[in-house]
Amino acid sequence: MPTTTPEGPAPRKGTLLIVDDENGPRQSLRFIFKDDYHVLMASDGPSAIALAQQQKVDVAICDIRMGGMSGIELLERLKFVDSNMEVVMMTAFETTDTMRQALRLRACDYINKPFDLATVRATVSRAMQRRTLESEIHNNAEKLQQLLGELQNQKMEEQMAHARGEIYASIIHDINGPLTVISGFVQLMHQRIGNSSKLELDDLEFVKDRLKTITRQVTNCIEISRRYLGFLCKQTDNLPRVGVNQLLADLNHLVRVHPSRQQNQFTIKPLPEDLAVRMNGTDFIQIMLNLATNAFQCCQTPHRVDIEARAHPQPLDLAAFKDGPYNRLLNVEGFLNTAPVVEISVRDTGPGIPQEVVPKIFEAYFTTKGQRQGTGLGLNIVQRLVREAKGALHLHTEPGVGTRFAVYLPAAALPRPQS
Ligand SMILES: Nc1ncnc2c1ncn2[C@@H]1O[C@H](COP(=O)(O)OP(=O)(O)OP(=O)(O)O)[C@@H](O)[C@H]1O
Ligand SMILES: [Mg+2]
Repeated sequence: MPTTTPEGPAPRKGTLLIVDDENGPRQSLRFIFKDDYHVLMASDGPSAIALAQQQKVDVAICDIRMGGMSGIELLERLKFVDSNMEVVMMTAFETTDTMRQALRLRACDYINKPFDLATVRATVSRAMQRRTLESEIHNNAEKLQQLLGELQNQKMEEQMAHARGEIYASIIHDINGPLTVISGFVQLMHQRIGNSSKLELDDLEFVKDRLKTITRQVTNCIEISRRYLGFLCKQTDNLPRVGVNQLLADLNHLVRVHPSRQQNQFTIKPLPEDLAVRMNGTDFIQIMLNLATNAFQCCQTPHRVDIEARAHPQPLDLAAFKDGPYNRLLNVEGFLNTAPVVEISVRDTGPGIPQEVVPKIFEAYFTTKGQRQGTGLGLNIVQRLVREAKGALHLHTEPGVGTRFAVYLPAAALPRPQS
């Protein structure tokens, strides 16, 4: 049983190995150190090595001149067993060359025979201290490594929590649009039929039509929450190919009833020949709806907003897109620039974006709209969705003239309708 002190377990006694082929010096060294250290003795090199292999030796005192294996060779072999073992050489009229060799082989010190008590004690004590210090440094380095690992894990968890927080905020942001439409339509229906106990035929048509829109918006909300839950579970479903023109028709329907449209003029131009994009339909609509909402909200005075789809039969010449104070191309590295490429642009005739604002607009929570009107998440979500679809996003803005966002997506022929 280990001895204990009131402060805890007593510190481990160091182990000292004495190697000398002469019994006299061996015994006198044992006598000097037996109370301070756990003392082991060996009369030749091979038995010293065997002892060091069996148990941890902190310091060894080796006679340099022994029959059989020399002290120098033993030093080398002991360092091989435990490279941190401290070895003190015992010498008698050795040449400086031998001493140099011993030091080169990392002997920590030497004592001359015949030795005096004070010197030998001081030398061994220094060697023991060095050994303790070295193992402490080693232990601390290991602990530091462990701490670094833990810190890394904690950082990763923090980042994941942050991403999760952003995703929750995004769900609320995206669901807010459809909810606004639903709430507006419910109010309209309420105004129309109020407390009346009987419905006329045209009232019924009115309600039916509004219910269709509400149903579509509710489906949208469900798809949005499903999409984000997919993000949280890191799901990457096999994405379907969806026709761009069908999506633009859905978008048209949504934008026309969207509260942000107000008095602004709005046109939407589909592809002359439809193509498919490989992405979730809700994601496509979410991208375009965010860009259209921004375009409508860019100023109070009535202005134009035009959405237009174009097909590029060749890959884009990315060198032609130069970033500058009023131009930005996002996701250049992740863009799958294979023909055909579909371009859908949202252009407004608003005030444009000031030069100093351009670098910030894609940051999460950046908004110039005041807290009640904007969360600043719209463009951040757009950028994320475009990146996931392996697309690119281009911004061109001109103060006093307007702003144009263009989304580029890798496209393909429409899937054949199944008969
Ligand atoms: N078409 C545009 N014209 C002028 N400024 C724009 C336009 N689109 C975006 N911006 C600027 O970019 C900022 C960030 O847009 P983003 O869509 O990320 O957030 P938001 O519209 O402010 O808030 P939310 O999307 O939550 O309603 C806007 O506040 C606005 O300053
Ligand atoms: Mg927005």
